Amino acid sequence: MSAKGRSTQRLDKVLSNMGYGSRAELKKVVKQGGIIVNGSPAKDPGMHVDPYHDVIEIEGEKILYKEFVYLMLHKPPGVISATEDMRDRTVLDLLDKSYLIYEPFPVGRLDKDTEGLLLLTNDGKLAHELLSPRKHVPKTYEADVAGRVTEEDVIHFSQGVTLDDGYVTLPAELSILSVEELEDGPLSKISLIIHEGKFHQVKRMFEAVGKKVVYLKRVQMGELKLDESLPIGSYRELTAEELTLLGKPSTPELLENQKNREI
Ligand code: URA
Repeated sequence: MSAKGRSTQRLDKVLSNMGYGSRAELKKVVKQGGIIVNGSPAKDPGMHVDPYHDVIEIEGEKILYKEFVYLMLHKPPGVISATEDMRDRTVLDLLDKSYLIYEPFPVGRLDKDTEGLLLLTNDGKLAHELLSPRKHVPKTYEADVAGRVTEEDVIHFSQGVTLDDGYVTLPAELSILSVEELEDGPLSKISLIIHEGKFHQVKRMFEAVGKKVVYLKRVQMGELKLDESLPIGSYRELTAEELTLLGKPSTPELLENQKNREI
């Protein structure tokens, strides 16, 4: 019952991709009359449906289809920004298994000890756009730096800093938020906007001026800001507004239109 021109897929494929069981299991559910499409029991698990427009119910539950998932994680320290690791817990270990079926991956990397904004998605195109070195998507960090960060450092960072391997960074915007005098010396709180993402870049930029980052948190990537009400270690789906900030259309219809344009 899908309108001509709409994108259709096999019913069992749509449902198995969403974690409702294997194709063999779904075949049984169909046989028992447990899947209803647009008000009528499905007879053939291979029937074609338009998952965005056809109303599909499985065992009384109406499915809300989505191809892509976009999650904002407030990354805690101690987990690795990877999909698997032999030794350590990864950011995927923090997700409910209902999200794992979408096979999300982290967009870029934060060090194990870095906290803050990490986007997880299965939308490879968006990830590429955010990470492409040519796009210079700004990333904002807040850090505690052992030592006194000075106005000279601000000027130095604005001109680009030479890292330990000789690479000269793009100009970066450093702001000194405060300098506290502690027993073991000054501690500076700073914010830094960088326009690239070299390995350990923020830490290495401060090392280049003889200072050590002792705490690091990412608070913004492009236009997307960390929701500070999100407890550390938790995550949520991006809102429609946040998706728009990333340049993504936010309704299933718009997503589908975009997909059709790409074909
Ligand atoms: N720069 C770093 O040094 N570490 C991070 O995790 C991110 C940016």
